[in-house]
Amino acid sequence: MKDSDRAERGAVRLVDVSKRFDQTFAVRSFNLQVRPGEFLSLLGPSGCGKTTTLRMLSGFETPDTGEILISGKSVAGLPPYKRDVNTVFQAYALFPHMSVAENVSYGLMQKHVARGEINRRVGEALEMVRMVSFAKRSPKQLSGGQQQRVALARALVNQPSVLLLDEPLGALDRKLREEMQIELKLLQSQLGITFIFVTHDQEEALSMSDRVAVMNEGEIVQLDTPDTIYEDPNSAFVAGFIGQQNFFNGVAQEQGRLVTNELVNLSSSRKHSQIIANESNVLASVRPETISLQVADNAATHGVSLNRIEGELASIAHLGDSVQLIIRVPGRSEIISKYSRSDAPNIGVGTTVSCSWSDLDVHVYPTSTNER
Ligand SMILES: Nc1ncnc2c1ncn2[C@@H]1O[C@H](COP(=O)(O)OP(=O)(O)O)[C@@H](O)[C@H]1O
Ligand SMILES: [Mg+2]
Repeated sequence: MKDSDRAERGAVRLVDVSKRFDQTFAVRSFNLQVRPGEFLSLLGPSGCGKTTTLRMLSGFETPDTGEILISGKSVAGLPPYKRDVNTVFQAYALFPHMSVAENVSYGLMQKHVARGEINRRVGEALEMVRMVSFAKRSPKQLSGGQQQRVALARALVNQPSVLLLDEPLGALDRKLREEMQIELKLLQSQLGITFIFVTHDQEEALSMSDRVAVMNEGEIVQLDTPDTIYEDPNSAFVAGFIGQQNFFNGVAQEQGRLVTNELVNLSSSRKHSQIIANESNVLASVRPETISLQVADNAATHGVSLNRIEGELASIAHLGDSVQLIIRVPGRSEIISKYSRSDAPNIGVGTTVSCSWSDLDVHVYPTSTNER
């Protein structure tokens, strides 16, 4: 292998890839460069084209236009088994009549790999997913998490440079899913192979990935590190899809540094990702954890304030490490405020409170974000 090839091993590139089913675009002008050894997530609502993207990478679907390169080489016309990728699906798809070891060795048997090497590689793959002691069991005798580990071993035994994972933890319950997230992430960093991980669960994508590609309607709408995606969403769609938000409809003044409506004015000191015209309709967003609550001062001025709004504390929910407070504001839907457990204010339900925030925490987006 040449040095240049080695350097690109595990790199994935999609250039202007589109795929249509009948009249609808499943994937549209898709451009993405994944680095060797990167953990990249495709995150988006159901139907946004995540699975179709993976199927084009694995060779089960052919793009209408554009080019796909894996490890630096075009894969056009290559059947799935000749591509240096393997896929793990949500449904484990193990052969029910075969033992764990037989399931993992199946692909190598098909390729007529020598018996000794098969045994060695199957052993290693089961070791990686900590399933060695289950080698003789049948899939029926395994829990969901164990079955998914076997599915993972079955993919890893082929030693692909890229592993594609399509909602692999989607069928597991929450606690097990969180354990498997940590395990998968560790495994990926040990093996150093590229993971392209599909999920519609934003917490999962943010906690596991080096970078996240947020998708909507067949397109990547933002590609960034988890931190940037959370702190600096580039559209109202991403802002609303990732984490919780308080949205305020309003009209822009001062190129969006001020947003006014009949209940509250919001000033923003953030740099906007899009140009905002005066008098245009906008959405301002404020994250719950940036909203502070105080018991309202009776003498507080009535009318419209700047970055402050009054309401009645309607509910307090303890969510383990955080506390979520819902404030009912006459004339709009609720405001959500969130505190860490140790910082939560001691205010009772029914109290009139003042919700305030900093101009550093106000994002402003044009209302029509679907310009195409
Ligand atoms: N084989 C197919 N035939 C027709 N439409 C399809 C097919 N596969 C996917 N689609 C459509 O393409 C869009 C994207 O689907 P998919 O890639 O499965 O999304 P996701 O995995 O993000 O939920 C959806 O509108 C879906 O209905
Ligand atoms: Mg899917």
